[in-house]
Amino acid sequence: MRNLDENTITEAVLARHAHAGDERLKTIVTSLVQHLHAFAREVNLTESEWEQGIRFLTDVGHITDDKRQEFILLSDTLGLSMLVTAMANRKPPGCTEATVFGPFFVEGAPAYQNGDDVSNGARGEPCFVSGTVKGADGEAVANARIEVWQADADGFYDVQHAGDDTHRARGVLHSLADGRYHFRSIVAEPYPIPHDGPVGRMLAALGRHPWRPAHLHFMIMAPGYERLVTHVFREGDQYLDSDAVFGVRSSLVAQWQRHEAGTAPDGTSMTMPFSTLEFDFVLNPSA
Ligand code: BEZ
Ligand code: FE
Repeated sequence: MRNLDENTITEAVLARHAHAGDERLKTIVTSLVQHLHAFAREVNLTESEWEQGIRFLTDVGHITDDKRQEFILLSDTLGLSMLVTAMANRKPPGCTEATVFGPFFVEGAPAYQNGDDVSNGARGEPCFVSGTVKGADGEAVANARIEVWQADADGFYDVQHAGDDTHRARGVLHSLADGRYHFRSIVAEPYPIPHDGPVGRMLAALGRHPWRPAHLHFMIMAPGYERLVTHVFREGDQYLDSDAVFGVRSSLVAQWQRHEAGTAPDGTSMTMPFSTLEFDFVLNPSA
């Protein structure tokens, strides 16, 4: 194939993949090439703009390591992560909706019992979290594995504190026989996604802020049910309608009740103000 021009190059590339052994790969790459070429034609992409794009992606690669995943951040901020999450988690009404996983989950979080304080010294006002894990028919789900992780009062996850490997404000517990769970942690605060790299520069160039509304992350697993990866967001947060990664669903927004010093739900005598949050999760049965 020679003398390809702007009108014939797309078909020529696709023809080159005719013998790809993996049909799904062929479908994906065919569509990707068609959309990439259509995009370049639509915006009449110049050579210097193409170079700038390559430089940007190179920077995204250079800042990525085992602790920092700038490609996921790029996918998150372009809405691709939430699109894939939404397509992969179509659920019957009544089931708790899923949202983005985010880059701050870590394997090996400490195990806790119901009632324990998962903050493990993370900075923040105390918060007592409780609720029930249920199935779609309202049945209690006992012994569901509940993994929770959140940022501290300064807006940082434990893994973002350099030189300190202690797990804080994250942990794993299991629902009780009646599906109930309860633990102590700290009040979630809004925080900016890491924005000191190429994705941050992209957001600034687009006139966008990097903030996420305050939230707790949950991942809940129980035999016979689909895995649920979700957040619970804090009612009243100023970023609920402009989340940098498009992850907010109205059904996931809950009231954090603030209380003056006094007796906490677990009977602890609190000498400082504290909050309570009650949230029930409804799992979708697995197919
Ligand atoms: C998070 O909520 O932890 C998160 C999600 C997407 C990008 C950055 C952070
Ligand atoms: Fe988060």
